Amino acid sequence: MAGLFENPFRTAPGSDPPALVGRDPELAIARFAVGMTHSAAPTAPVIITGLRGMGKTVVLRRAMADARANQAIVVYAEATRREPFGAILRSGLQAAQESIGSLPDKLKRAIEKVIRVLPKPEYELPDRAGAIALSGAGEPDQKPFMTVLRELNTQAWKHGRYLVFAIDEIQEAQINDLSPLVRFIHETAGTAQPALIVGAGLPNSRDHLHQAHTYTERWRYLEIGLLTPDQTREAIVKPIRDAGQVISHHGLDALVAESAGYPFFIQEYASAAWMQHEGKTITSADVAAILPGVRRILETSLYDSRFRALTPRECAYILALADIGPGPRTVYEVADRLGSDSKRVSSIRNQLVKKDVLFVPSGGMVEFRIPLSDRYVQAHRTELERRAAAKPSTSIDVRRESLPPQDGKAAH
Ligand SMILES: Nc1ncnc2c1ncn2[C@@H]1O[C@H](COP(=O)(O)OP(=O)(O)O)[C@@H](O)[C@H]1O
Ligand SMILES: [Mg+2]
Repeated sequence: MAGLFENPFRTAPGSDPPALVGRDPELAIARFAVGMTHSAAPTAPVIITGLRGMGKTVVLRRAMADARANQAIVVYAEATRREPFGAILRSGLQAAQESIGSLPDKLKRAIEKVIRVLPKPEYELPDRAGAIALSGAGEPDQKPFMTVLRELNTQAWKHGRYLVFAIDEIQEAQINDLSPLVRFIHETAGTAQPALIVGAGLPNSRDHLHQAHTYTERWRYLEIGLLTPDQTREAIVKPIRDAGQVISHHGLDALVAESAGYPFFIQEYASAAWMQHEGKTITSADVAAILPGVRRILETSLYDSRFRALTPRECAYILALADIGPGPRTVYEVADRLGSDSKRVSSIRNQLVKKDVLFVPSGGMVEFRIPLSDRYVQAHRTELERRAAAKPSTSIDVRRESLPPQDGKAAH
């Protein structure tokens, strides 16, 4: 087996892949927005959208590196529902302050002032006091968030710097907390001292941001999806070649087919094939040896737990969606395929959204939450059709008895 430390592939979420293929347009647009902000020219925030594992965080991190190399003070915040966004922003400001070694005192103090008006993370406070909305945060004698942010922005520009807020999982940020930040960015746009947001999130990010303010409609939303077969080939071959190894044609074809352009799968399959090989060449036998195991692991962690607890009507719904084909579809198309109307099947759809199988990327649309779910549905078609045809009352008992215990939710 090849040594673990030589393995060039990166399977952890957000890890920089050895070859970042197919994202040049998005990287260029983000770099352009940063460059425009740096030269105080008008530009719009950029939000990278896509389903889990498509490589949004990777693009965001590259944009952050560009911004840092361009004199920006980058404030990174990964939104989560478990923590008020204001508290996450506070940690981001603290990290920015610590990571920039030699900041002028005035600028340091301006950052500290913003930090002080933001709520502390809940784990630092008793009584969940961190859960104060950003707009109402702080002690009575403190200036409002917007005021200290404006002061920080002015100080930054005075010292040849500017602010870039890099927000990951932006669809998770509470609207109350996001709104003042969005307003601030809008206020600075078109002035001589602009600040920028570069974000990443699920495809519903646009609708989510729209709730914070309507002018977020004018932001740039860049959806990233599956890579083409040629791009997938490059994402696998280049790192292998760069490491002085080779892969057989058949082995490569099999990896390209199996990973189907899904960046997360590309890293998983290529990493396993790498670990399997001995000597200089990854052979088709190496690839054949790892495929069933990796496929099983990925099915278990991503799909099985979501798809196993479906009612017959829900099974019928996802079969219809998979048959129409990949990508977002209108709710009417699916209802049509089921020989029904969208109102009558809306409760099934809502249940599937609750069960994390489906996702509403924007109003009136529906899509599988996890990429390549349609392929999973086709591979398990016979069983799903059998379950779709079962009578609801009996099928539930039978299914409960025959199923293994539920896993926790997958990381991706
Ligand atoms: N363009 C790409 N080519 C190859 N692998 C990629 C690419 N983009 C991302 N990856 C890999 O895919 C996985 C998921 O990336 P990540 O940025 O965490 O996705 P997301 O943030 O969309 O969930 C990581 O292992 C990453 O290294
Ligand atoms: Mg991510």
